Amino acid sequence: MKEEIVQKSMEKLRLKPNLDYDKVVKSFKWDDIKSEIEFFEKGKLNAAYNAVDRHVKTWRKNKVALYWESDNDSKKFTFSELSILSNKFANVLKNLGVKKEDRVFILLPRIPSLYISFLGILKVGAIAGTMFSAFGPSGIKDRLADSTAKVLITDPELKKRVDEIRFELPSLETIIVVGDNVPKEKGVVSYNEEMNKASRNFDIEKTDPEDFSFMLYTSGTTGKSKGIVHAHYSILQQHITAKWVLDLHEEDVMWCTADPGWVTGIAYGILGSWSNGASLVVYEGRFDPAKWYSILEKYNVSIWYSAPTAIRMLMAAGNDILKKYDLSSLRYLCSVGEPLNPEAVKWSVEELGLPFHDNYWQTETGSIMVANYPLMPIKPGSMGKPIPGVRVAIVDDAGKELPIGKEGNLVIQPGWPSMMRQIWQNKEKYDSYFKGKWYFTGDRSSMDKDGYVWFVGRADDVIKTAGERVGPFEVESVLIEHPAVAEAGVIGVPDELRGEVIKAFLVLKPGNEPSEGLKEDIKKFVKTRLAGHAYPKDIDFIKTLPKTRSGKIMRRVLKARELGLPEGDLTTLEE
Ligand code: WT7
Repeated sequence: MKEEIVQKSMEKLRLKPNLDYDKVVKSFKWDDIKSEIEFFEKGKLNAAYNAVDRHVKTWRKNKVALYWESDNDSKKFTFSELSILSNKFANVLKNLGVKKEDRVFILLPRIPSLYISFLGILKVGAIAGTMFSAFGPSGIKDRLADSTAKVLITDPELKKRVDEIRFELPSLETIIVVGDNVPKEKGVVSYNEEMNKASRNFDIEKTDPEDFSFMLYTSGTTGKSKGIVHAHYSILQQHITAKWVLDLHEEDVMWCTADPGWVTGIAYGILGSWSNGASLVVYEGRFDPAKWYSILEKYNVSIWYSAPTAIRMLMAAGNDILKKYDLSSLRYLCSVGEPLNPEAVKWSVEELGLPFHDNYWQTETGSIMVANYPLMPIKPGSMGKPIPGVRVAIVDDAGKELPIGKEGNLVIQPGWPSMMRQIWQNKEKYDSYFKGKWYFTGDRSSMDKDGYVWFVGRADDVIKTAGERVGPFEVESVLIEHPAVAEAGVIGVPDELRGEVIKAFLVLKPGNEPSEGLKEDIKKFVKTRLAGHAYPKDIDFIKTLPKTRSGKIMRRVLKARELGLPEGDLTTLEE
């Protein structure tokens, strides 16, 4: 299949690929590409300036940067318009007293103001925190409280969730509300009114490359989600990987389907892609096969960056729908976030004439680390090879490198430009990622003789459902807040469509009887509090949970029992 796929996809590529991997990888140094981005005097820079404003000095000023579409509306914004609007928003923040390093959070659907406010936050030198709009009150509270956010941008509908928990957020000074019907309340201002008053000129903060730009909360095995903090300098790697891996060219229209509440939606749905001067498409609505194909057709999308669950859902929707659309503008496809099964690559080759190119990275790594490139033969099922400048290895638990083909921990040599700079106020957690000379990803993989990396699975209890990362502890914490639940253990179980689905094992409090009605009530409870994507699809009521003598839930035992696998070492079990 290899040579054939390369041949086929090369014909459709139409443009000369940006990266000659074998040539560049040999002697690459990060300093070689510093000229790709623009620095101010004394080595200062600003990621938002690089994404948008630098293009305004060129012919691209009137080029469309953003094609935005919802289910009943559409709008276009040029680089120049985005520059002015984000300047205005930066002034709005400045007038509210926002200073460098203040945390300013966004809780919005994928509407233009989300993109404008993100850029504006970076322009004042504050730290932008994004939240996926499916978060419920407790998910929102955890993030705003941990980061001690000063300002939140939201809309009237989502604000209702914030109102429930606002009394627990003493640091939150101002809520900026987008849209009409802005309530006249203390500490609430109207986005539209403030934007109308604000000047279009703004002196962009000349930040140090190491100054923080954005933060994202992401889940691990233990505790609540952690604030992963990135620096302005990460734009260097986001830019070059958008160019090398997504093969962005001047003439491309790119659709990155990820929400900016997740790292892909920031690194490639905003920063790295605009930095390359490409036009981006944003669709505000939910997943729907016909709508998705119509977006690809309408905007002549050439580069499409999506995720395996979405691809599998398109496959499941059948090819009759697909055939109704002219998708001939597509020239290059990429996928990220969870294992891309070979069948999905096969499907895209057969139906679209193009393979999906898998790539791998994490919220913590800030940009793509391992990838399949346009000129490189794809081995379906493999994530590809490390990007130039990044050294990846497979090691045992002590950090010793393992021979070719052996499964072990996927580790990376620290020092790449877009690496997280901090876990917000949690040095201990940050330090726990590093052992010896390696950064541990928490994933298990192997590497073949050609240097291709093959994903095996997580080394911890983190769940990946529909590409989204969910921490079992967070779900368990919400579950035990339900009045009927005494104890909860949460695991991911394999699912053909979503990769994994969340399953909860619950011990009920005395006086409660298991029932289907109770299951539904508990699911709704989690959905409305934590997040729409993080509720357990499946619930089992059990008498006791397997625990260690110190009281820790043994999720691996729950998983083994669920899947009918050996339970492993049970010497610490106390049931
Ligand atoms: C975890 C990171 C980075 C963008 C979105 C995810 C899993 C990521 C792949 C892939 C198999 C993958 C890993 C990783 N993952 N890409 N190509 N094949 N697994 O960011 O939410 O921080 O999740 O997603 O387990 O550690 P994230």
